[in-house]
Amino acid sequence: MKHIAEELNARFQGASAPEVLAWFLNEYGDTIALASSFGAEDQVVTDLLFGISPEAKIFTLDTGRLPYETYDVMDRTNLKYGTKIAIYFPEAEDIQNLYATQGVNGFYESVERRKACCHVRKILPLRRALKGLNVWITGLRREQSVTRDSMQMVEWDEGNNLIKLNPLIEWDEAAVWDYLKQHRVPYNKLHDQGYPSIGCAPCTRAVAPGEDVRAGRWWWENPEHKECGLHFKEKGKEQQ
Ligand code: ADX
Ligand code: SF4
Repeated sequence: MKHIAEELNARFQGASAPEVLAWFLNEYGDTIALASSFGAEDQVVTDLLFGISPEAKIFTLDTGRLPYETYDVMDRTNLKYGTKIAIYFPEAEDIQNLYATQGVNGFYESVERRKACCHVRKILPLRRALKGLNVWITGLRREQSVTRDSMQMVEWDEGNNLIKLNPLIEWDEAAVWDYLKQHRVPYNKLHDQGYPSIGCAPCTRAVAPGEDVRAGRWWWENPEHKECGLHFKEKGKEQQ
């Protein structure tokens, strides 16, 4: 419920990410899971979670268009933590229909086509992954983009009807990297090649020094469109 999320958000103001995660894991047991894209932030949360419990649940959405380096860090992460992170794929039939209507790379042609691709490859698998959960955890940080500056640590996810926990919401990029290095956490090698934010291969490119961290995501679109719908706030708009 929305008011529970608001109460929890007020309660955990100023609390550290490990503290918050430990409380939520204890409270929500096997109905809480991290959604991981194996980006730097998600790797921090993964390490924190497995530090609290080897049973912590993590899932990833494999869109079928991920870069090689993401699959590589997926394997290295499973190996390090002795786990098999759950994986959700799009439905084959949906991909066949997408291909029939807009071809392989139709997402470059319009925002609508791009959203149609994200819908089939990310949003629908996310819905399946969230079934039965009370809380999903993300690696979102407030300073990542203009679309994220009002996000809270604990939110009610209206579109998916469950609590969303963003334990790193206040962290800056330096804190993320200090953590990864200090704890020797495996990370996506593309981060060393100018990719601060990594999604699907055809929709992600490197950014120049000083450029916005999400400038390389859907770079052909305006900044206010640059959410795939996983984290869109306006009720009902992208999650139908
Ligand atoms: S996106 O909406 O633009 O793709 P971004 O890459 O910044 O999101 O990641 C933000 C958070 O969304 C991640 O920390 C993670 O929790 C979740 N996320 C993004 N992509 C995936 C994915 N492919 N699988 C699982 N979770 C994901
Ligand atoms: Fe499709 Fe690009 Fe969205 Fe990936 S990010 S699902 S390839 S439009």
